[in-house]
Amino acid sequence: MKFFVDTADINDIKDLAATGLLDGVTTNPSLVAKSGAASFVDLIKDICKVVSGPVSAEVGATDYETMLEEGLFLSKLAKNVAVKVPLTPAGLKVCKHLSGQGTMVNVTLCFSAAQAILAAKAGATFVSPFVGRLDDVGENGMQLISDICQIYAQYPEFKTEVLVASVRNPQHVVQAALMGAGVATIPPNIIRQLFTHPLTDKGLAQFVADWAKCGQKILPAKAA
Ligand code: E4P
Repeated sequence: MKFFVDTADINDIKDLAATGLLDGVTTNPSLVAKSGAASFVDLIKDICKVVSGPVSAEVGATDYETMLEEGLFLSKLAKNVAVKVPLTPAGLKVCKHLSGQGTMVNVTLCFSAAQAILAAKAGATFVSPFVGRLDDVGENGMQLISDICQIYAQYPEFKTEVLVASVRNPQHVVQAALMGAGVATIPPNIIRQLFTHPLTDKGLAQFVADWAKCGQKILPAKAA
């Protein structure tokens, strides 16, 4: 399973890339606005230098012609840019065009299995179903992931990866893994939560104390 970080904060991206466990990045217009970046284009170029995996950069327009022009421009910023388009008829048309010429495309704002089928038929590299936002309106976000994984598994010609988005807690990540989703894009604070367990901290404190008590050494003394 691949982990992408869902942020446009370059410091968080650098910090998490240093773990060696980061496979990509997703940004969206709201995350870019939150980052306060002076130039979106420069930001994407910078992120692509830090992370070698797919970096999703979303178009700003909603009409086909401008979206396509923006997508073509973004795709030339770095070889690991995945152009992100909304799941609309025009967005899928742009997806079909860009994926046809070998550009990675992430189809975002997916809220139904029917939409996910369309994204796969349009040749999307990734489809992003938003689990947290479905949970927020009383629907079952993880059920959608399960449905899409099941559908895609029946059609080997669908090459689209399920990119679980709008992740709100570690359980979303674990459930996505159990369902066989290829990717989860996870906010930085939730990635950090994945590392922690109170029994890990407690156990480590005990080991450190006992190691100090027994006076053992692993490394030979360094020559003066
Ligand atoms: C996906 O690529 C989006 O950037 C993101 O996951 C949306 O999450 P939110 O619902 O927390 O805004």
